[in-house]
This record gives sequence, structure tokens and C-alpha cells, in this order.
Amino acid sequence: MIPSIDALPERSLWHPVAAQAELGADPLALTLLDQPLVLWQDASGNARAFADRCPHRGTPLSMGRVHNGRLECAYHGWQFGADGRCVHIPAVPAFAPSSTHAACAYEVRGAHGLWWVRLASGADEGPPALAELPPRWVVCGPYDVATSAPRVVENFLDTSHFGFVHEGWLGDRAHTAVPSYEVAAGPGGAPCVPHYRAWQPQANAQAREGAWVDYRYEVLSPYGALLTKHVAGDAGGVPSGTEAGGESGDVTAAQEAYALWVCPVGAEASRVWFTLFTRDGSSSDASLRAFQHTIFTQDQPVLESQRPRRLPLSGGEAHSAADRLSAAYRRYLVAQRITFGVC
Ligand code: FES
Ligand SMILES: [Fe+2]
Repeated sequence: MIPSIDALPERSLWHPVAAQAELGADPLALTLLDQPLVLWQDASGNARAFADRCPHRGTPLSMGRVHNGRLECAYHGWQFGADGRCVHIPAVPAFAPSSTHAACAYEVRGAHGLWWVRLASGADEGPPALAELPPRWVVCGPYDVATSAPRVVENFLDTSHFGFVHEGWLGDRAHTAVPSYEVAAGPGGAPCVPHYRAWQPQANAQAREGAWVDYRYEVLSPYGALLTKHVAGDAGGVPSGTEAGGESGDVTAAQEAYALWVCPVGAEASRVWFTLFTRDGSSSDASLRAFQHTIFTQDQPVLESQRPRRLPLSGGEAHSAADRLSAAYRRYLVAQRITFGVC
């Protein structure tokens, strides 16, 4: 039996829905797990998320406006407060609306430069937490990608395409062999690769020559992942246990990290952001974004070409030993009972 949308475990996960910088004075229309939402900013600057449907006559609330810290419907001007309660009906000004006149409100949090929403209560306190990352960060995106969220995450975890899709950037055809690596289990059984070494012709925005790069891959949630890089030759790239000299505080610190956040808009439609964390104090935000933009727009046509668009969890695709992390990610989705964006 196909589960109804209310039974989806995905509904109780926190999902990124917009960059914080995207939300201004006007309400934003969004879709999460096939459900239309409106995101708007209340009088204290907090984001609020409602089902994008006026309880009066079904007009999308995103057609309305924010007025005096309330969301006002475009059709008859009903006004809704931050908690979704209807606080004013202009046609019956003396009437005190009851809770049956309320918009359907969802929980919202801000984290990593994005607004996050969940559609049902669940065990997670909030969006995935990140620790010990470089202090400077920029958000890159959104990218609307015509494929499932799990296809996007699996591509982010896949290194054996670097020499082909990112030739001259993250890999080259003289270094296509994937070294043996161990997959470990992180929090909640999410797969991670603590040590992965790769040769990269241009590993980041400011690199001028090739370098060996030490990676750490972590799946953070069914639709999010983190890649941490230590570039050899930088303080952050000194292998643990060796004498580093200089400032010891930075010896094991990451040089940079890329968090991938995917909003499962529909089962075969995704909205993607990256939060880039870096110790690079000289490159502009624009050049940091331009590097990530170059890389992801190399991935995007391949992602949109894959069939099926949903990630096959029950066979049908061939694997090699280089795909251990992808295989672990697929097993994790099964264990998490994920059904949205998989087949
Ligand atoms: S439909 Fe929204 S106020 Fe009537
Ligand atoms: Fe890629």
C-alpha cells in the first residue's frame, strides 16, 4: 500500500526552504514535499510558515501582503497573526474569529543561513548541527534541479565522477582511481567517511595549482551532507600526530567545508543550497560563490539526465567498490524509512 502523505517520516524532518537573505517584506510561495507553503516575516523579523491556502476560500496566502506584522489575504483581506490565528475580518470588523478561522502554521527555525520548516513534530530538536567549522560562511544557491533530493545527495557523496564531470577542477583523467576508504556510522546511523584522500587540480576558489586534499564526508540527514576539506600544505592539512609548528590551535582545523542542503520540493524536483565555510579571508563572497556555481552547474546536467529520477533503493543499478559510500547512503535511507524521492 502506498503510504499517505501524513504517514511520511519525511514530514517530521527539518527541511531548508529558503535562504534567510531571500525573505524580505513580501511573502514567499514555496513547495515542500509537494505541499504549497507561504513563508513570511512577522513584526519581530522571525520567519513564519503557513500552508499556502486561506481557510476562508482557498486563495493562496502568498498572493497577499504583510501588513502591520500580519499576513493579509489578497481576496477578502482576512489578517493572520504570527501563530496563524485569524485576527481581523474586514467585512465583519467587530467579530472575534475563532480557532476554526486559523491558517495552518508550521514550525520554522533559522540555521546555516537558511530558514527550515518541518510539517509534523518529531524527535529532532532542530536542523542538523555543525561543529568546529571555519568561521566565515556564505550561502550559494538556490538551484532548482529536476531530480529527486536523494539523487542530489548521492552525487555530492560520489568522488569517482570528479575526473570526468569536473575535469581540471576537482579531478583529472590521470588520477581517476578511487583510493580504498572506510565508511563508518555517525549519529543516528548516518554514514560518514572520516578519511578520504584525493588529488585535485583546483580544489577551491583561491587554489592556483593541484594539491592532495583530505576529505571528510558526513551524511547529516536523509537530504543533507557535509564535506570538510584539509588541503595539504595548509595548517589544516597537517596529518594528526605530526609536528606542525606555528599556532597549534589551527593544526586540526578544517580549511573549508561545504554543506549541501536539499529541499525535497517534489519527489522528482529539488531546491539546493550550499553553505560554504572557509578560512579564506581574501576571496570575495562573489568569487567563493562563483567557484561553487561552476562545480554545481557541471553536476546539474548529469543529475537531470539520470533515470529514474528517484533513487533506486531496491536494485536495478550496478555498483563498484568505489561506490561504498553511495551504497551506505542507500542503506541509511532504507533504515530511515524514507519513501519520498526513492523507488
Ligand atoms: S479567501 Fe482569503 S480572505 Fe477570503
Ligand atoms: Fe560533482
